[in-house]
Amino acid sequence: MSEVAIEKNTYWVGVNDRTTDLFEGLWPIEGIGVSYNSYIIKDEKNVLIDLAKGIKTDDFFNQISRIVDIDKLDYVIVNHMEPDHTGVIKTLRKIARNVEILCSPKAVKMLQDYYGISEDVREVKDGETLSIGSHELQFVHVPFVHWPETMVTFDTTTGVLFSCDAFGGYGAFQGTIFDDECTDLSFYEKESLRYYSNIVAKFSTPVLNAIKKLDGVALKIIAPSHGLVWRKNPARIVDLYKTWAGYSTSGGEKGITLLYGSMYGNTEAVMNAVAQGISDGGIHPEIFDVARVHVSYILPSLWKNNGVVIGAPTYEVSLFPYMQQVLEKAVLKNVKHKKAIYFGSYGWSKGAFKKVQKIAEDLNWEVTEGLEFPGKGTDDIFESGYNLGKRFAQSLK
Ligand SMILES: Cc1cc2nc3c(=O)[nH]c(=O)nc-3n(C[C@H](O)[C@H](O)[C@H](O)COP(=O)(O)O)c2cc1C
Ligand SMILES: [Fe+2]
Ligand SMILES: [Fe+2]
Repeated sequence: MSEVAIEKNTYWVGVNDRTTDLFEGLWPIEGIGVSYNSYIIKDEKNVLIDLAKGIKTDDFFNQISRIVDIDKLDYVIVNHMEPDHTGVIKTLRKIARNVEILCSPKAVKMLQDYYGISEDVREVKDGETLSIGSHELQFVHVPFVHWPETMVTFDTTTGVLFSCDAFGGYGAFQGTIFDDECTDLSFYEKESLRYYSNIVAKFSTPVLNAIKKLDGVALKIIAPSHGLVWRKNPARIVDLYKTWAGYSTSGGEKGITLLYGSMYGNTEAVMNAVAQGISDGGIHPEIFDVARVHVSYILPSLWKNNGVVIGAPTYEVSLFPYMQQVLEKAVLKNVKHKKAIYFGSYGWSKGAFKKVQKIAEDLNWEVTEGLEFPGKGTDDIFESGYNLGKRFAQSLK
């Protein structure tokens, strides 16, 4: 995609990445990609805000050149040091010899550690402003959205907030960068929640702090470093992020994520009875086979729903490994304050339920009931499973 004007003298010069299969080497984005958004403000001083991942160097430099000669850049603002936004910086520095890098104090050491860059780096204080001619830029430190050095840059003249990872999402652009021109907003909103639950969730308190800090700022456009530029309805993505961050303490909205795993189908058969009970209890469960669905797609559901159903057999006196992995990812991402139930088959010793209860302690999940059964479920077990699901659904508020 070629450059796009987003405001007066302000251009998107980002790149689509449809080659990387795993974002952060971890989260699947194959088929949808991701964008690294970068912006130029052309004024008395030429400013580049955030960069791109190293594999996109050629594309990215072409983008910049359409607006300004690279060696005519005066400032590069590094809002965030993660290499998806800085990978090209060493090469850029070799071309734009006079460019000054502006970043938060914590990013200074990181620039040295990651790229050996220490000259012409200037740290900017929280709230500091910079006049570049007809535009004035303000730097707002937002630590841990997503790393400790993260800041955002606000153009007080145009009202554009360059928010970096905050308010971003997965998904390369499909022809337009703007919310109002996008005909499938639900795709980006869904991928924003997946991105939030995968990347940002752990930092929900810093997100809420950042939103509070930006309260009262005359925001006109939100220009994040991944995903759509929100120019028609910037409040929409702020509200979504605020709602999602709130789940970190509220435990989410009324809803059920049903996680199951099964080696020989015994637990799976009872799962269908439990699901039927849940449905008759008034909730449509979101069902995931933990061995087959990547945790990246499970986390958004877990993050949003206040109820979790765990169905998995005993495996070597413990929990079916894929289930354990999913629950451990939930621990890592601070998916807390849920209500949960367990069911599962065993052969001789049991052990899965005990492990679930142990992990649930780390998660602050209240496990209200467990149904363990040997081998294949009897009619009684199927009925118990159905009733368990129904009771659980009816218990959620
Ligand atoms: C590799 C393996 C390890 C197992 N370890 C245990 C165990 O330690 N204790 C136990 O009670 N059952 C154990 N089992 C038995 C299963 O829990 C039992 O077969 C159960 O019915 C499987 O449920 P599923 O059909 O939903 O996979 C093990 C089974 C397998 C295949
Ligand atoms: Fe990041
Ligand atoms: Fe990022």
